[in-house]
Amino acid sequence: MASMMNNSGVTMKSLQESAQRAFVYALRSVQFGVMDLAAAVDFFAGPWGLEVMARTPSSVYLRAVGASGYLIGLHKRDKTEVLRADFRAASRAALEERRAVLQAQGVHVGDVEVLSEPGGGYGLSFRDPEGRLIMLVADDARDAAEATRNDAPLKLSHLVLNTPQPDVLEKFYAGALGFRVVDRTRKMFFLNCNSDHHTIAVVPSDVSTLHHLAFEMSGFDAVMRGIGRMRDAGFSIGWGVGRHGPGNNIFAYFSGFEGLPLEYTAEVQQIDETYAPGAVEKWVPQPGRNDQWGAAGPPSKEMKDAEHSVPFSSEAFVAPPAS
Ligand SMILES: [Fe+2]
Repeated sequence: MASMMNNSGVTMKSLQESAQRAFVYALRSVQFGVMDLAAAVDFFAGPWGLEVMARTPSSVYLRAVGASGYLIGLHKRDKTEVLRADFRAASRAALEERRAVLQAQGVHVGDVEVLSEPGGGYGLSFRDPEGRLIMLVADDARDAAEATRNDAPLKLSHLVLNTPQPDVLEKFYAGALGFRVVDRTRKMFFLNCNSDHHTIAVVPSDVSTLHHLAFEMSGFDAVMRGIGRMRDAGFSIGWGVGRHGPGNNIFAYFSGFEGLPLEYTAEVQQIDETYAPGAVEKWVPQPGRNDQWGAAGPPSKEMKDAEHSVPFSSEAFVAPPAS
């Protein structure tokens, strides 16, 4: 176990050390409700670059090429929505410990459950202060991500949330779940739980929706090849290509299938406990620029709409087992 590596070369041991602080150390997967399941699978297993791992009549799980754990669960619903966001915890014992902490803080949590969904393991589910269903997962079956196609996503990178209550979300994710706020800009702040600069980011807004979900690619060339596949499939870039300030990552955003706000990213800055958080003054962009290069321009109107319109479901969601 101690010798397992993730795709950025960080050992499991160092990730687990981070987890002692954060209690979670990665964004594992996101469950989406989609209106047209078959077409959604065609999109994610087609131009987006994932592959089908398991399916039921009403759900499909997709993984990174060559990896064993799934990144996306797609479930047939009447509207496009986020059903659940799943983060990794170090162990079943860590889940039990976190359950007690959350209960002490007044969060309604169920028991630590044995999961029957693909990969199995243990799960602890609860809702964040705005009703988003979150699950912490431990001991699910997986290998280190060793993608066999270097132009396809390797893993989930980060989840970005819109909220009218940024202080409340900061208190929950940083306080109750142990994330560290690493940078603040005029528009958002970034939360860290492992060697990646950020795994969650929070955008003050007038809605409690998904801002976007980012997939990590192996590098600049893979991002560009992904853009090419998306163009072939009729999806133009909604924002990018550019390089962000905080996180220093390359980005290309799309209003994807059913308007899901998705990002290809690469070269995410790797940090550790010594990283000095940056205040708003550090991240004031140059006038007229939206990225470090000055190449990105502003997001399209379609992209801005996508970044606000996908809600989190209030459904008591349970991921079905793979048949
Ligand atoms: Fe992003």
